[in-house]
Amino acid sequence: MRTSISFLILFSMQVMNTSTAIAQANKSVSIIPKPARIVEATGSLSLKEDVKIFFSEGVDDKEILLSYLSDQLNELTGVRIPKKGSRKLPASNKIIFKKVNDHNWGEEEYSLIVDATGVLIEAKSGKGFFYGIQSLLQIIPINAGIKIPYVKILDEPRYKYRGMHLDVCRHFFSVDFIKKYIDLMAMYKMNTFHWHLTEDQGWRIEIKKYPKLTDIGAWRIEKDGTRYGGFYTQDQIKEIVKYASDRFITVIPEIELPGHSVAALSAYPHLACVDGPFNVENEWGVFKDVYCAGKEGTFSFLEDVLLEVIDLFPSKYIHIGGDECPKTNWESCDLCQKRMKEEGLKNEHELQSYFIQRIEKFLLSKNRKIIGWDEILEGGLAPEATVMSWRGTEGGIEAAKQHHDVIMTPGSHCYFDHYQDDNYIEPTAIGGFSPLQKVYEFEPTPSELNEDEAKYILGAQANVWTEYMHTSDRVEYMIAPRICALAEVVWSGKDQRNWNDFQTRMGHHYELLHQKDINSFIQAPHGGVNKNFFFDQMKLPFEVKLEDAKIRYSLDGTDPDDNSTIYTKPVVLKNTSTIKLQTVHKSGLTSKIRSLECIKISPLVSDTSSGLATGLKYKIIKGKFNNIAEITNDEVMECGVLDKIKFPKDIEEEFYAMEITGFIKVDKKATYTFFNYAIDPTQISIGNQLIVSHEGLNSRHERRGRIHMDEGIYPIKIVMIKNTPYANQQVSWCSNYFDQIPIKSENLFH
Ligand code: ACM
Ligand code: ZN
Repeated sequence: MRTSISFLILFSMQVMNTSTAIAQANKSVSIIPKPARIVEATGSLSLKEDVKIFFSEGVDDKEILLSYLSDQLNELTGVRIPKKGSRKLPASNKIIFKKVNDHNWGEEEYSLIVDATGVLIEAKSGKGFFYGIQSLLQIIPINAGIKIPYVKILDEPRYKYRGMHLDVCRHFFSVDFIKKYIDLMAMYKMNTFHWHLTEDQGWRIEIKKYPKLTDIGAWRIEKDGTRYGGFYTQDQIKEIVKYASDRFITVIPEIELPGHSVAALSAYPHLACVDGPFNVENEWGVFKDVYCAGKEGTFSFLEDVLLEVIDLFPSKYIHIGGDECPKTNWESCDLCQKRMKEEGLKNEHELQSYFIQRIEKFLLSKNRKIIGWDEILEGGLAPEATVMSWRGTEGGIEAAKQHHDVIMTPGSHCYFDHYQDDNYIEPTAIGGFSPLQKVYEFEPTPSELNEDEAKYILGAQANVWTEYMHTSDRVEYMIAPRICALAEVVWSGKDQRNWNDFQTRMGHHYELLHQKDINSFIQAPHGGVNKNFFFDQMKLPFEVKLEDAKIRYSLDGTDPDDNSTIYTKPVVLKNTSTIKLQTVHKSGLTSKIRSLECIKISPLVSDTSSGLATGLKYKIIKGKFNNIAEITNDEVMECGVLDKIKFPKDIEEEFYAMEITGFIKVDKKATYTFFNYAIDPTQISIGNQLIVSHEGLNSRHERRGRIHMDEGIYPIKIVMIKNTPYANQQVSWCSNYFDQIPIKSENLFH
């Protein structure tokens, strides 16, 4: 941070008597990401409708700034200010943009001063002014005129790369939504939009020379027979690149190679190692059909595609993917093997490296640089490649040690397709667990790097893979408010960050997000499970860990609304009921509605069987079943006894159902919670009660059921379907609500 003399004087004068001002700071000024330096003073400036905007000599991007400021102020306050700059320096009621000509200032640096004389934003470039505007907009109250607290801010980012990624291939999103996404990024001073445009499940960018990429490659036939897809025309892409540029955001396109390319192969099958035809994928995963690395045609095709991509995107970087490329076809392809021999490549990893380096060389010749996922380290890094570290931070550390630039996007903290709350509460997501606080606590520069190596960490990015985001509403839900946490990670200094302070500032940001119609995640009430069984009466306590929020609920099966009961003490039920509950935040944002079945039953009767053997009986039924009701006993393939509730390892069939029966021994009287984490449908019954029911195909989540049991032995039945190649299953239980463990073999009998 460099500081002009005048600012320093102003600053230090304030600092001398600002302990009270700082104490109040969080109340009126809630900027995210937190500025490097901020001093508040008592009082506020009111600007009137005919506010004058004045630009000093040499301010860049005047029209863009003015238009943006005017539109945003109007949206925020209802006041419309003219989109025209004032020719004379106004005396009052003014917002001044003043160009800084000090070479010590950074390109993204700005200062914002609000006092009795007006608003002054100083910066060196359009970017700096734009960030000054963002901070200004965040301190103006919503719908209360233009009333701005006195403040002095001097600010610049910690990292120069502040990214958000979006996969538009697994699910496709409209141009309007992409703009909304970019607007949200702009609000939080994020500066790079990584646009994932090609995948196994769809090719989404018009390429004039290869029309089949979008005629064929942009469309898939879903499992239910419907056609799904879409793509962006070159005109739409230009419109989005301009829209982003007007918000000082660079768009980096990703054209995946050599893997994740089934959609391209469906259009141009001759680019594969093996004969087609190929269909645009309608399942999620990693697929063995990839571009052939032995054919010259592959490279001329990709170069043609990249030439059109370069024309559309002015970005210095082009992302070329490089992740998750199976080498199986290359191993048995004569042309790939010939290439390896000719080029002296020892293995298929080196062939992948050859592929990437050849593409890099082409792009360098066009004055562009490549970014690739961290697999591009395998077999040797292309000379000028930037590495996006996603399988943890290790790839990034290795690349930085090799003096390559790095962008950190580890799955642990930066995958916004992961769950942000307990997965028995949340809508289905891909897996993982990255709640807001975890994102907030991410440190992009690993301690393993020395000072010199640390300079290669350009910044960080959140990745938004959309397998489980069918709608733009769901995308919003997954990124907000986590984008706020990430914005602070990449902008604010390490010492600047404070979780409690951030949470307090979030109060105002929930209001802003609500005002901008962003379907933000709000924590749903915790407590109870999906199915709760009781004998006499049941007492259910709930809680939500969010400031300024309350819980409302209904017991009559209707969705909670403004007329519903507000939760103040544990809910007591005497009869079978469905309790529906929801968190309501002061901002007006609401959580998803949880629906809990609470079922009154007679106490379970312990079985009297004796002489039981250990383990449970199982049978495997051949077939690809979509739900439990479809299972028939027609094709029983195999029967036996198992001691763990799992799919047996040695079954050759890819798809089947499994029925497990026997007894479970309960050692002590307690309330037991049964857990099932699964991808495909599963049911767990005790006695004749269905305790846990997991519905939905290819739908990773957990379901829970809770029941009281006395010491004894009870019939148990588990039915599970394997309809997805990578399906897995976990069945566990616990007697204390939390510490779930797999059911031990010593408790299982038949
Ligand atoms: C990735 O998530 N496959 C980069
Ligand atoms: Zn090949």
